[in-house]
Amino acid sequence: MPKYELVLLKNMAQPGYTGSLEAYRQAGGYAALEKVLKERTPADIIEEVKKSGLRGRGGAGFPTGLKWSFIPKDHKGLKYLCCNADESEPGTYKDRQLIERDPHQMLEGLAICCYAIGAERAYIYIRGEFDLGAEVLENAIQEAYRANLFGKDLFGSGVNVDVSVHRGAGAYICGEETALLESIEGKRGKPRIKPPFPAIHGLYQEPTVINNVETLANLPHIINRGAEWFASIGIGKSTGTRVFSVSGHVKRPGNYEVPMGVTLREMIYDIAGGMRGDKPLKAFIPGGASAPMMKPEHLDIPLDFESIKEAGSMLGSGGITVMEEETCIVWAAMNLMEFFHHESCGQCTPCREGSGWVLQILHRIEQGHGREGDIEQLENLCRRIEGKTVCAFGEAEVGPILSSIKHFRAEYEQHIREKCCPFHPNATLSMVH
Ligand SMILES: Cc1cc2nc3c(=O)[nH]c(=O)nc-3n(C[C@H](O)[C@H](O)[C@H](O)COP(=O)(O)O)c2cc1C
Repeated sequence: MPKYELVLLKNMAQPGYTGSLEAYRQAGGYAALEKVLKERTPADIIEEVKKSGLRGRGGAGFPTGLKWSFIPKDHKGLKYLCCNADESEPGTYKDRQLIERDPHQMLEGLAICCYAIGAERAYIYIRGEFDLGAEVLENAIQEAYRANLFGKDLFGSGVNVDVSVHRGAGAYICGEETALLESIEGKRGKPRIKPPFPAIHGLYQEPTVINNVETLANLPHIINRGAEWFASIGIGKSTGTRVFSVSGHVKRPGNYEVPMGVTLREMIYDIAGGMRGDKPLKAFIPGGASAPMMKPEHLDIPLDFESIKEAGSMLGSGGITVMEEETCIVWAAMNLMEFFHHESCGQCTPCREGSGWVLQILHRIEQGHGREGDIEQLENLCRRIEGKTVCAFGEAEVGPILSSIKHFRAEYEQHIREKCCPFHPNATLSMVH
């Protein structure tokens, strides 16, 4: 039995739940869409979502209702909604489960959002590797069209909403919202300079909202149970539940839905079953690979946007990666940097070149060839990347490195002093370049 009331994972937790349209409707699905189309104005919905305090679950935690309110109401041309199902952040796999196991929940949320912002066209940009998810979504969309839940004149309201799936080709950067738009337009996925923001010049230069899968999946529940109910879950400005993907050295890795604000201690030692082999905890990443690392002294910090930020990290995508005492932090930082260096789109020089230089230094420290001054050089390089790129990838890639030096400087120094990795003394490393 889960400890907390499930909202987003509730249907799929029922034995035998198939995620079909019939099963979803039996569980009360699409009632919220019918209700908004028959009884509520778009402005009403935006107000309700603002009152709920819902914030984006894709990474930045931007208030959802506020984002929608930036879409110009008097715009004559098309407006778009793009659902971000790219989910490429290492350690994060909650959108995948939401799509594969209960696709109509997110589709209903998507239709509600389209109505609220006046968009007749929606795209779901799904990570290229999600073969099953794409297939499940295509089938669910066909079912929904056959039942006139998408298409023309939904519930006799005169409202039209069309949706289709757009598959990515395996690039992490295409999760960044403007790179995602470029990719849908058939171009290379390179982030755009902002402003202008997508709410004004988005897909095909028309007003566009980009929302994460989990963000959209919350909408039917906010409509059915009300903004106040939603706002009563969680703490402070972090309302509702959150699906966290827990991975690494825990006994029970998996997706767990909890109210925002449970502590990391509860998440790791209670909900995820504690440390594998009961080994001591060394470090953890609270919000996907791009979130700065944290230490055991941070275990009692609540998992909410503000508290994690105050502690120097970020809630990000909700991917919690746990590392036990025998994990080499230099190796972990190097592993993360290999990913970021490989995924840099190459548009901005500090990110394209800097990520490679950072990686080279990490590589030599880990292999026992570190030199005096290398740690300072790493810090210097990172400072020259963060804030100097078109998108937030720059900050994302240096966060884990700078935090690993801040919390584990002595371990870096030991590698350099002893001319080997204390954890993998004979390791030969596979490098990306
Ligand atoms: C490098 C990078 C990768 C990102 N990847 C994702 C992703 O895979 N999924 C996602 O929802 N948001 C991702 N984001 C955040 C999006 O740009 C955007 O903020 C989000 O989709 C907005 O939806 P939300 O307001 O519902 O969170 C990424 C951002 C950056 C900078």
